[in-house]
Amino acid sequence: MKKIAIMGAMPEEVAPILKKIGTYKTTEYAGNKYYEATYNGVELVVAYSKIGKVFSTLTATTMIEHFSCEVLLFSGVAGGINPELKIGDLIVATKLSQHDLDITVFGHPMGYVPEGSVFVETDKDLLALSKEVADELGKNVIEGVIATGDQFVHDEKVKANIVKHFNADALEMEGGSVAVVCNALNIPFFILRAISDTADTDASFSFDEFMESSAIISAEFIMKMVDKVISK
Ligand code: ADE
Repeated sequence: MKKIAIMGAMPEEVAPILKKIGTYKTTEYAGNKYYEATYNGVELVVAYSKIGKVFSTLTATTMIEHFSCEVLLFSGVAGGINPELKIGDLIVATKLSQHDLDITVFGHPMGYVPEGSVFVETDKDLLALSKEVADELGKNVIEGVIATGDQFVHDEKVKANIVKHFNADALEMEGGSVAVVCNALNIPFFILRAISDTADTDASFSFDEFMESSAIISAEFIMKMVDKVISK
């Protein structure tokens, strides 16, 4: 069975996962803590990266290259764009982009750099497994585009611009970079987010109020994904 990485960005995003796992070994590496455990006979490595594309790149790379993880599951919160997404709702990324990657002055589309791509697609098998999990839990999980950037979005105009360029359903600050890493290193990956706010003028208040409860909703689903991956 493959060694599974479970990542979040903030402590609150991995705390419910560590609680469920119970006992684990803590290793410090490159300024982060990595929690190693055997769970139902499978090796897991859990970590939160800290916020943003750079830290999440470091952590995803470390989990794969240093801890030898062979599949990566990300759990956390996001700002909703798709009006169907309410606080606490789950979105699974079908593909991700970097909404703040901008060399458009040279004639390239937003999110594109030469030899890269605007979108990185997630693993189809993990998507199919998440449908099974959602059905079993009787949960409505939206599949869609997630846009990632190094900013907490709290402005309708910024949101509208992200929709214009990427037709995104949700936005956050790590998924797109984790996607680039996993894609480059050939690691199947899955990005799950529960909505904490709707990236509007009230976003920071909503985030403060709902981040923890939404992180728990996402973590509970991710642990069902782990069970599902193990059972296959
Ligand atoms: N994660 C959760 N809400 C967010 C927002 N509004 N902007 C960026 N990342 C987020």
